[in-house]
Amino acid sequence: MNKISTKLAAYFTIAVFIMEGLLMLYLHDNIIDARIQEEFQSILSRGNSHRDVLEDRYSNTTLHHIALMESKTETEVVITDKNHQVIISSKKLTKGMRELINDSPRSLPREGRVIEANWKDMNYLATVTAFEKDGNAGYVYMFKSATPLRNLISKLNGHFLLAGIMSLIILACIHILLSKILTRPLIRMKQATEELSKGNFEVKLPHLGKDELGELAASIKTLANDLETIQHDRSEFLATISHELRTPLTYVLGYTNVALREEISESERKEYLTIIQEESKTIVTLIENLFELAKIDKNNFSIQLEEIQLSPYFQKIIKKITPAFKSEGMNLILSIKDSFSFHADPIRLEQIIMNLLDNSLKYSKAGSTTTVLVRQHVTGKMALTIIDQGIGISAEELPQVFNRLYRVEKSRSREFGGSGLGLSIVKELVEAHGGNISMKSEPNKGTSITIII
Ligand SMILES: Nc1ncnc2c1ncn2[C@@H]1O[C@H](COP(=O)(O)OP(=O)(O)OP(=O)(O)O)[C@@H](O)[C@H]1O
Ligand SMILES: [Mg+2]
Repeated sequence: MNKISTKLAAYFTIAVFIMEGLLMLYLHDNIIDARIQEEFQSILSRGNSHRDVLEDRYSNTTLHHIALMESKTETEVVITDKNHQVIISSKKLTKGMRELINDSPRSLPREGRVIEANWKDMNYLATVTAFEKDGNAGYVYMFKSATPLRNLISKLNGHFLLAGIMSLIILACIHILLSKILTRPLIRMKQATEELSKGNFEVKLPHLGKDELGELAASIKTLANDLETIQHDRSEFLATISHELRTPLTYVLGYTNVALREEISESERKEYLTIIQEESKTIVTLIENLFELAKIDKNNFSIQLEEIQLSPYFQKIIKKITPAFKSEGMNLILSIKDSFSFHADPIRLEQIIMNLLDNSLKYSKAGSTTTVLVRQHVTGKMALTIIDQGIGISAEELPQVFNRLYRVEKSRSREFGGSGLGLSIVKELVEAHGGNISMKSEPNKGTSITIII
C-alpha cells in the first residue's frame, strides 16, 4: 500500500536534501577556501619578514638564525642565491622541495608569491619572496606541510557526513510521526466508512482535534448518525405502512367471510359489502398517497410553474369544496386581501389547499367556521393562511404532525379515513415550490396553517 506518510516523507526528504546539499556545498567550499588563504597568507608574510631581516642585515649569523628559528616551527625555510643555489635551509631538502625550487621562474617579485597551491596532491604548500640589498640578492622559500590542512578538511567532511546521517535519522522520525498523526487516523476512518457501508453505524473514531482530519472524523460521525436515523425511519415507516394496510385488509377479509355465509339476509349482506367497499376505498387512498410521496421523493419530480390569477383560482377551489363543509354544517369563508398574480404549479397548489381544507373539515365540529385568507407577503410572495375552529393540536404533538403516517388520535382519525400522510405530502409540495410552511394550534380552539410561496 502506498502510504500517504511515505509519500510526504519522500517529498520532505528530497526537499531537505536539496536544501542541505546546496548549503553544504557552499559552506564546505567557503570554509576550505578561507582556510587555505589563511595558510598562504601566514607563510607568505613569514617569508616577507625573513626578507626584511635579510635586507636589513645580511650575514651568516642572520641566515643561521632564520634557519634555526624555522626548524622549531611547522614551516620550513630555504634561502637561495640569485641562481637558486641553496645557501641554507631549516631542514634537509626533499626531492619535491628541490624540484619546486628548480622549476620556479627566474624573476620573482619582492612581495612574494605562491608557487605551490595544490594541497590535495603535493606534500607542501610553498611561497617564495625575493630579497636584494647591497649586492646580496636571493630568494626566501617557505614550505608548509599540506598534511594538517588535508586532515582538517577530511575532518570537516566527516562532520558534514555526520550532519547528513543525522538529518536522515530526523527524517525517519518525521516519517514515523507523520504516519502516527496522519496515516493511522485515515486508515481508521476508511475502516469506519467500510463498516458504515456494511450497515454497522456504531463507528468509533478517536478525537482528533480541530484540524481537517478532526473535521473529517466529525463528518463521518455525523454521516453515521444520519444514516442510522434514515434506516431507523425507513424501517419504522415500513412497519407502519404494513400495519396501516393490515387493519383495513383484516376488516375486508373478516366481512367477506361473513358476507359469504349462506344464512344471512340480503340486507345484512349489503351492509357488510358496504363496509368492505369503505375499507377498500381507504386502502386505495392510502396507496395513492404513498405513491404520491414516492413520486415526490424521487429527484425527477418537477414543478410546472405558471402565472396564476389569484381571485378566479381560489374562488374555483372554494366553490368545489364548499358543499362538503355545508353538509357537515360548517362555514367556509374566502378572504382575499390583495389582488395580484403569482407563480406556482396550479395542480400541486390545489392539492395542498385541498389537503389542508380536508383536515379542517375532519377535525372541526358542526357550526364552526374555516377561513381561507390570501394576501401578499412582504417578500412579494403569496401568503395563504387557513384558520379553523377545530379540535386543535397540543404543543407536544405539533412538531410531529408533518411526519409520515403520524396521527394525533389514531382512532379518531381512522374514523375519517385519515392515514397521516396528508400533511407530509403538503410539506413536500410546499418545499418543492421553494416555499415555507408553519403551523400554530391550540387544543379546542383551532388551528392555523400558513404557507408562503
Ligand atoms: N386542522 C387540524 N386540526 C386538528 N388536528 C389536525 C389538523 N390537521 C391535522 N391534524 C392532526 O394531524 C394529523 C396528521 O394530519 P394529516 O393530514 O397528515 O393526516 P390525516 O388527516 O390523519 O390523514 P390524511 O390526510 O392522510 O387523510 C391528523 O391525524 C390530525 O390528528
Ligand atoms: Mg389530512
